[in-house]
Amino acid sequence: LKVALIMGGTSSEREVSLKSGRTVAKALESLPHTVETFDPATDLVDLVRRAGEFDVALVIMHGPGGEDGRLQGLLDLVGLPYQCAGVLGCALAMDKPRAKELFRAAGIPVAPDLVLRRGEADPAGRVLAELGLPVIVKPAREGSSFGISMVREAQELAPALEAAFKLDRVVLAERLLAGRELTAGVVGNRELTALPLVEIVPGKEHAFFDFTAKYTPGASQEICPAPVDEATTKQVQELGMAAHRALGLKGYSRTDFILTDEGPFALETNTIPGMTETSLLPQAAAAAGMDFPTFIDKLIDLALE
Ligand code: DAL
Ligand code: MG
Repeated sequence: LKVALIMGGTSSEREVSLKSGRTVAKALESLPHTVETFDPATDLVDLVRRAGEFDVALVIMHGPGGEDGRLQGLLDLVGLPYQCAGVLGCALAMDKPRAKELFRAAGIPVAPDLVLRRGEADPAGRVLAELGLPVIVKPAREGSSFGISMVREAQELAPALEAAFKLDRVVLAERLLAGRELTAGVVGNRELTALPLVEIVPGKEHAFFDFTAKYTPGASQEICPAPVDEATTKQVQELGMAAHRALGLKGYSRTDFILTDEGPFALETNTIPGMTETSLLPQAAAAAGMDFPTFIDKLIDLALE
């Protein structure tokens, strides 16, 4: 097959995308496909003009522009199939408040939250009055923990909101959940397979699985399969598949959870999960017996289904 490998772009997660893309490019070397690489930051016109020369695209993009449906819409228009969810699924998953509304409707537990808009009168006052501390403050549409702060003291709230509003005009403040971090990979179109869970144990110097903890080899420990009991494993896997369905995704996804004393709560779903050497989904696929090239080939098959 002729594969267009799309990586880079202009979001905050550009560097992560390039890392993920290089890992995928390496995996493709051992597969019988011809590969050409495109970076939407510079090659968008070229990609559109030459789309007809390719059988499939691997969109290894993270964050707004590449993972939020816009690039998927372009590929739909030029008739090039791709491995991830489509326009609507990507757009919904990228938008944390909207994804959480769909999770709630599907009975998937999520943390209580407040949606704040840039320019509103007293966002910090609203958070303190309606939610209380501690909270976690997130831009509505970002990835890799960009713009995210954990807030335990009232005086930290204003700077946290400011940092998040720099990246998005909509910001989500969520009640901080205490518990273990788990992630659930799902593969498939109509028939879904849940991958083994991964538990993330951020190193002591990281309050949560932040950017450095995510991408510095050794900065956090990833345990796969996650050492949780069978019933909990099954429950989180079911919730991962329910999230995938609630958002109308295809190909694959990875939903992140906090396992609290009251059970698992979903944080968000990634429609193009990280594929860097420290990323979680490749580890989950490996635990399911799929080496990385086999996994990429599976995604290509699903794209063409
Ligand atoms: N957004 C990053 C790439 C991830 O979820 O893995
Ligand atoms: Mg994400």
